[in-house]
Formats: sequence, C-alpha cells, structure tokens
Amino acid sequence: MSEFETILLERKGGSDGKGGVGWITLNRPKALNALNAQVLADITAALDELERDDSIGAVVLTGSEKAFAAGADIKEMATKSYMDMFLADTFAGWDRLANFRKPTIAAVAGYALGGGCEVAMMCDILIAADTAKFGQPEIKLGVIPGMGGSQRLTRAVGKAKAMDLILTGRNMGVEEAERAGVVSRIVPADQLLDTALEAAQTIASMSLPAAMLAKAAVNRSFETSLAEGLLFERRAFHSLFATDDQKEGMAAFTEKRPPNFTNS
Ligand code: CAA
Repeated sequence: MSEFETILLERKGGSDGKGGVGWITLNRPKALNALNAQVLADITAALDELERDDSIGAVVLTGSEKAFAAGADIKEMATKSYMDMFLADTFAGWDRLANFRKPTIAAVAGYALGGGCEVAMMCDILIAADTAKFGQPEIKLGVIPGMGGSQRLTRAVGKAKAMDLILTGRNMGVEEAERAGVVSRIVPADQLLDTALEAAQTIASMSLPAAMLAKAAVNRSFETSLAEGLLFERRAFHSLFATDDQKEGMAAFTEKRPPNFTNS
C-alpha cells in the first residue's frame, strides 16, 4: 500500500483475495485533521487504490480521539479570491468519496465540524463515539457549508434542525445527532475502532456485488421519485440472479450452512 502525507492507509484482512477492509486514518493532528487540498489528493488516491483492489469489500474512514476533522482548512482558504475558488471548483473533488462504489463507514470521535461533518455524512454508515460533536459552524466564518452540508444534513435531519444548526453554527452532541438521523450508532469511545472494524468486516464478508447494489439503491432514493427508485431497486434485485453469490447464498440457507461468497 502507498505512503501518504496526510493520511494513513492500511488494509485489514483480505489475504485470501476477498473480505478485506480498507482503513483510512486522517493524520494531521496539529491541525485537528483540517481538510486541505493535500488531504483530498491523498484520500482520492487511496480510494482509487481501494476501489481497484478486489480483496477490499468495505472502507473505514476515521480521525483521532480529539477530532475526526475540524473542517476545511481555514488557513488555506482565508486569502482566496472568488476566482480562485471558482476556477479550482473547490471541494468538487470530494464527490470521489460520495460516489465511491464500495460501502464506507465513518468512525467519528471528537470534532466533526464543517467539512468534517460533511465528509462523515458522505459515508454510508456513521458510527460515533460518545465524545463526538457535529456542527456546521461556517456561518461564524462569514460563509456557508460548501461540501454538501446544506443538502445532506437537511436530508438527514429535516429543515427545522438543519436551519438551526447551519444558521446558529452551534455544535450538536452525539445523542442529538443520533436522534436526528445523522448517526447510525453510538458507542463508548474506547470501542469505536473495534465496532467500526467489526461492522466493516461483516459487510466485507457479504457478496460484494450485492453490497454495492444495495448501496446504490439506497443512494438512488435521494435522487429520484419513489416509482423510479422502486424500479431501480427491482431491476438491481433481478440482476443479482445473474451472480454465483445469489445461488450460493440461497443454497447455503437451504442447506443450513454459512455461505461462501466469491464476489462472482
Ligand atoms: N482549519 C485550519 N486549522 C484548524 C482548523 C481548521 N478548520 N481547526 C483547527 N485548526 C487548527 C488551529 O488553528 C490550531 O492550530 P495552531 O495550534 O497552529 O493555532 C490547531 O488546529 C488546534 O486547534 P485549537 O487550538 O483551536 O483547538 P481547540 O481545542 O481550542 O478548539 C475547535 C477546537 C473548537 C474544533 C476549533 O479548532 C475550531 O473551532 N476549529 C474550526 C472549526 C470550523 O470552523 N470548521 C469549519 C471550517 S470551514 C468549512 O469546513 C467549509 C466547508 O463547508 C467545507
């Protein structure tokens, strides 16, 4: 696996060619994992590597105990002009994470603010330590969320709470975040990484094409009408009957044994 400047990339398991977990740790401790251009470049390269790697069935993205990420790098942005931001299409590159095809889990402890909250919400599952704090404080800097906060947060929590968070810039504790639908599960801080790994390994042990289509079908629901979404789901469901894994999964059930999926 490659070396990166601002992240650590590990592979957990998968030595038999499947069922492995890609593990990305944000690693800018002095800046509370603030998301600068190098972080995006590193994450993009890591995701490209993990997408190509057939042994990887799920990816975990995590930070430190103190901060998942305290937002986009304010010092990097502070002196930019409108034209700098427009021509670089700043933050568009993060679509790479949102559009990553294998399942992703954000394992969040400490601050997930601004871009940190937005990156966590780009992942499919968000497992939070009881120390996690979420917020979109951009308004306090004279700007607004720019990596999807006004859209993904609103879809997750509804207008009332999204407006409250985005207009006041207040932080939201983990209990409130779970009640509101941002967080999938809360765990004690010392169990965060083990829980995320277990969830990722569980997902990676499934048929990869089924997991990828399940992710695509859920994400489709945010982009389309109910009728179109149901059609997408049904066609995807039908397509899985072209896989060996469907035959294996259903045969294993009938024969009362664990399935041996081959991602084929
Ligand atoms: N960008 C750049 N540097 C950051 C940063 C950020 N988003 N967040 C923290 N840091 C740096 C601090 O400047 C500090 O560096 P120095 O030691 O060189 O001064 C270091 O990380 C430690 O931070 P603090 O001393 O502030 O730590 P703290 O424990 O006192 O406070 C905090 C923690 C409340 C998270 C505070 O750091 C903070 O408010 N950070 C900014 C949060 C924020 O506004 N995020 C939104 C950014 S804009 C954005 O994300 C736009 C978008 O939609 C994509």
